[in-house]
Amino acid sequence: MPQNTEREQWGTKIGLILAVAGNAVGLGNFLRFPVQAAQNGGGAFMIPYFIFFLILGIPLMWIEWGIGRHGGKYRHGSAPGMFDVIWKHKMAKYFGSLGLFISMVILIYYTYIESWTLGFSIFSVLGLYSGETSETMRTFLSSYQGIGESAHFSSIWPAYFLMLLTFTINFWILFKGISKGIEKLARIAMPLLFLFAIILAIRIVTLGTPDPSVPENSVANGFGFIWNPNFSMLGDPKIWLAAAGQIFFTLSVGMGTIHAYASYLKPDDDIALSGLTTASTNAFAEVILGASIAIPVAVAFFGLDATREIASGGAFNLGFVSMPIIFGSDAFPMGELFGFMWFLLLFFAGITSSVAMGQPVVAFLEDEFGMDRKKAVATLAIVVLVAVQFVVFFLKYGFLDEMDYWAGTFGLVVFALIETILFMWVYGADKAWKEMNAGGDFTIPKVFYYIMKYVTPIILMILLVWWGVQSAIPKLLLRDADPANVPYIWGARILMLAIASGLIYIVKKAWDNKKSEEIG
Ligand code: ALA
Repeated sequence: MPQNTEREQWGTKIGLILAVAGNAVGLGNFLRFPVQAAQNGGGAFMIPYFIFFLILGIPLMWIEWGIGRHGGKYRHGSAPGMFDVIWKHKMAKYFGSLGLFISMVILIYYTYIESWTLGFSIFSVLGLYSGETSETMRTFLSSYQGIGESAHFSSIWPAYFLMLLTFTINFWILFKGISKGIEKLARIAMPLLFLFAIILAIRIVTLGTPDPSVPENSVANGFGFIWNPNFSMLGDPKIWLAAAGQIFFTLSVGMGTIHAYASYLKPDDDIALSGLTTASTNAFAEVILGASIAIPVAVAFFGLDATREIASGGAFNLGFVSMPIIFGSDAFPMGELFGFMWFLLLFFAGITSSVAMGQPVVAFLEDEFGMDRKKAVATLAIVVLVAVQFVVFFLKYGFLDEMDYWAGTFGLVVFALIETILFMWVYGADKAWKEMNAGGDFTIPKVFYYIMKYVTPIILMILLVWWGVQSAIPKLLLRDADPANVPYIWGARILMLAIASGLIYIVKKAWDNKKSEEIG
């Protein structure tokens, strides 16, 4: 049997679990999830959420760990090589290039948002946003983003500087490698993240009613708002799509990043229990911690109607406008400290995910081109740095949203469907099952064999068609686009096409090189 030797390896099992959990636990858990739950039926949202967790999330986790560890045996750390191993067809590697594309495009915009969290954690300590109101905090955020001016920011340069700093930290960690960089980061950042989240959740739960003259604005009502199921909404397909989208994004499945991490396992390392542990850790961080912070405290401070409005304004609004107002208010004792914890926890959540998004391309350049790590990281850094300029300067024209839709939402389902068919049908369900269970600390319940073989791909196909009709086609045809944004939306599409073409080209080149080496 081929062995995964000479490649880097994870130092310890706990380090690996923390790294994969760090990959999954991200901004999605603390910002995206509460907004999705609040917008889509509260407690009722949890029904499709858990159904998709069981029939998509967990199966895809195992499939990706399985494909990844298997590819690693053949010295492949990214999807093109992995798909080439499981499907002996010359097109396989090109399908795999989608795993490079998605992770790289998400990395480009995700790291910019991550840099805001770093910035806001510093602003918390400096007390920069204390006493802001809803109106002024909105201006604070938009002026920080370079959209207009405020008393605090007259240009985009502070945000730009923090973006550069965040990028530098990300690439420095990637440069340090798997065990000395990514694993070390996870071992420090993940425990701190959980500690901060638990402290914040406890503080918020014990906050009660900040303004006793308005007793209905309470934390208890906040929990009621996020958890009271509105079952009548379950008939709305929108909720089901939202839940599926959240499962993909939050677990980081369909991105190509889990595969990359799993490729550094030894062939007999466990994946059955590790895959389940990471998926469950992510669910805990999301459903228990993520749901206990931003929305309950928003209801306590602003009331139900305003919170509904905040949630409909999206995750940024909740995270970067409402939360600073709360931490900056006199009714939140030691708000600077808690604000610092909130934004630093978001930063830790973000960075442990973004380094994962850089790893597939780095692994590709190392494994398929024989580049050393330094050169591979530098190559990716240059491309990402060029691309991020557009995201920074064209933010208000929907540039980021366009990338997020195609790569971070729709693309995940496409990639997940391809990998499921390749692994469970082309490579073969029996072989795949054996692979996923090899070295396992427990045997995956047999029912998942059938789920992975039949249910997961069928559901993915339904989602793809449904999503396609409901949103992808209208979006592609720019049906609801603001005319002023159209040129920028096209710009984002051209950028993504350029990235995709570049990746397909280097995939072809890598295989051409290998062929000529074999002949030579
Ligand atoms: N899974 C990562 C998140 O939730 C990408 O943000």
